[in-house]
Amino acid sequence: MANLIINPNKKVSKINKEIYGHFSEHLGRCIYEGIYVGEDSPIPNKNGMRTDVVEALKKIKVPVLRWPGGCFADEYHWMDGIGPKENRKKIVNTHWGGVVEDNSFGTHEFFELCEQLGCEAYVNGNLGSGTVREMSEWVEYMTFEGVSPMADLRKKNGREEPWHVTYFGVGNENWGCGGNMNPDFYANEYRRYQTYVRNYKKDHHIQKICCGANVDDYEWTSEVLKTCFNHSPEEAHGFMDGLSLHYYTHPEGWKIKGSATDFDEACWYKTLSKTLYMEELIERHGAIMNAYDPEKQIGLIVDEWGTWYTVEPGTNPGFLYQQNTMRDALVAGINLNIFNKHSDRVKMANLAQIVNVLQAVILTEGADMILTPTYHVFDMYKDHQDAMLVESSIETKEIGMDEEYMVPNLTESVSESADGSLNITITNLSLEESYPIKATILDRKILGVTGEIVAGQMRDKNTFEEPEQVTVKKFENIEITESGLKFTIPPCSVLHLQVRENA
Ligand code: AHR
Repeated sequence: MANLIINPNKKVSKINKEIYGHFSEHLGRCIYEGIYVGEDSPIPNKNGMRTDVVEALKKIKVPVLRWPGGCFADEYHWMDGIGPKENRKKIVNTHWGGVVEDNSFGTHEFFELCEQLGCEAYVNGNLGSGTVREMSEWVEYMTFEGVSPMADLRKKNGREEPWHVTYFGVGNENWGCGGNMNPDFYANEYRRYQTYVRNYKKDHHIQKICCGANVDDYEWTSEVLKTCFNHSPEEAHGFMDGLSLHYYTHPEGWKIKGSATDFDEACWYKTLSKTLYMEELIERHGAIMNAYDPEKQIGLIVDEWGTWYTVEPGTNPGFLYQQNTMRDALVAGINLNIFNKHSDRVKMANLAQIVNVLQAVILTEGADMILTPTYHVFDMYKDHQDAMLVESSIETKEIGMDEEYMVPNLTESVSESADGSLNITITNLSLEESYPIKATILDRKILGVTGEIVAGQMRDKNTFEEPEQVTVKKFENIEITESGLKFTIPPCSVLHLQVRENA
């Protein structure tokens, strides 16, 4: 019997809803086909956005969407994507398959999508190949309501009111595809570019995200913070709200990657062990941030995470299209539990990517759409959004097949919603064993509990022929005891319990 101890009296930190964020890039069939089909498409749409996809995304309460990249962002010139569509420039998408980008999805379309989803906008600016003026004018175009060349242009293009830009990224992966910069060079560029990301309205503070490290590049984090904070820390706090971190799970390493669907038990544990590395990354980058920002005003923004496999056979290698199995469900559940547990520092995370690319929550084929196992995990975890993380711990043991890739059998996180209910999410990483769990909930009388679960065999997936092999099922057999709950979690599963209680 594994002991899970929950102390709802100890509120740790708020789980920002943005931890459940997503990322959409002009890459493969993410934006085009996956989300945007155009107004004249036979696929049902509202102002060009697929109705089926938007409705499915609304169900999981997408809180924030990052756009237009990724590597694409540092080659994107926003003016190519405004005005009458027939006049928009056709360009080559050099990063992703060399295909034609017709710019029919641009700034106006992005905000239309955010409005339909009811989510915050995270716009990523171009520092790598764009000018300071270009970035500053984009911000003016999007957010200034008075009379100015850019506000007038926006109005001429059919949008009277400015939009709300909640987050603005000042470059992406500038250590790599965003200009191959050294950290001190980037940091000075960041200081300069961000100066012109103006807040045009007093009550509209655009949160500026500085480009952070790739995986374990701690030197990048140290150097960037050193350069940004070298004059006055107070001043630096004004010009940086978040520092990003990118970490993908590649089961067989960056070069080989490995198949999304054809893998064995050893690879299962290897993948999950590599996923768990996220915790160390957050802690070590967080420790460097603590030296400059002990009060944790600057968020660690994990704005690209998820699995990255070899593309599905027969698909364009530049489109990064991959299937999604129970393994991805576990990767999602484990990462989201980690982000919840570190929500004092992690203020946003964006799964890469939302539709048809990498660890997508939705896959489309023509007019058809399927929901992936990862989608169902996001669906179950949505109650954590804006809830308070409460103190919890679970007894675990090490499992696995290879000494190098041992993992704990269970991970968990617990939050309390505004109405007092507790959200418990647990992942069982074992492929064979189910575990009885005794949950002790301190100082509470439990009135009721409901459970839901995503479970199956490791390679289970949804396909267009069989779209519901993996879904959320009701989880029963939960015993309410004097001190909490008793239940047994099956192997290869992600579980969500909601406990209603009074003090
Ligand atoms: O998500 C795919 C790519 O991965 C992004 O464009 C880039 O930022 C990262 O390397």
